[in-house]
Amino acid sequence: MTVEGIRVSRRWLALREPADAAARAPDLVENLRPHHPETGPRVIHDLGCGTGAMGRWLAPLLPGPQHWVVHDRDADLLKVAAADLPGPAADGTAVTVEVRQSDITRLHPGDLTGATLITASALLDMLTEDELARLVTVCVGAGCPALLTLSVVGGVHLTPADPLDRRVAAAFDAHQRRTTEGARLLGPDAVTVALDQFSRLAAEVLVRPSPWRLGALQADLAAEWFTGWVGAACEQQLELAAETDDYTRRRLAEATAGQLAVTVNHADLLILPHDPPSERSSAG
Ligand SMILES: C[S@@+](CC[C@H](N)C(=O)[O-])C[C@H]1O[C@@H](n2cnc3c(N)ncnc32)[C@H](O)[C@@H]1O
Repeated sequence: MTVEGIRVSRRWLALREPADAAARAPDLVENLRPHHPETGPRVIHDLGCGTGAMGRWLAPLLPGPQHWVVHDRDADLLKVAAADLPGPAADGTAVTVEVRQSDITRLHPGDLTGATLITASALLDMLTEDELARLVTVCVGAGCPALLTLSVVGGVHLTPADPLDRRVAAAFDAHQRRTTEGARLLGPDAVTVALDQFSRLAAEVLVRPSPWRLGALQADLAAEWFTGWVGAACEQQLELAAETDDYTRRRLAEATAGQLAVTVNHADLLILPHDPPSERSSAG
């Protein structure tokens, strides 16, 4: 993917932040805690940070002073991440943030030297297989845990149901897997591919469902999500556009009235590294 890539709006990220926080699998944080250093520097690299929502969610759940290095290719989003800082850590200690504008698919192992944790959220499905493979290599090379949350895995469920839902969902998934700049995006296949690659290189990979469950309290997000969902489907399958006018109007009216319930499936991954060779031999 190029540094320009697909731009994500600040408004969309603000709208989804509470739903993302509610959806991420909390037990992966429990599994991560024993691998979080008890002393010394805690340096967390957040890849594709957007406006920094991952830090605002995770930093207060982990103890100890933390330094977050947040990476994104979008300078405007990074400005927000630098201004809207995470609250203090779980024990009240300070959290600092450093921004880095970069293409995270072109990171070199040295870029993450000293990392004690790597995070990403809503990122993997935007990558191609080669980009994901490079990212996996860099994460494993850093030798620290990685918490990669909220990758779209395909499958949405709308209530009340409508006969057009399945066709729109299929066209949306195809759009997520579209070929751009000569390479196919992984879309809903990202988690399967990531699991396969990490399982061969890491000590342990944990995977948990992390669906959005949107209802009346998330009516604005449901309406915005639906607009993007049906728009991408129609872009992918042009003949759908003529058939979805009434459907779109009806669904948006339902969403706005808080009468549309939507489940959007995601998955979270926690990757735990092998012990460094020195620790393995002393433990054995
Ligand atoms: C869906 S947003 C998620 C943002 C944030 N992690 C969150 O959960 O709110 C994906 C983010 O990844 C960034 N991104 C996507 N591909 C990237 C790349 N190759 N290099 C750097 N940033 C990238 C986008 O600019 C965007 O900010």
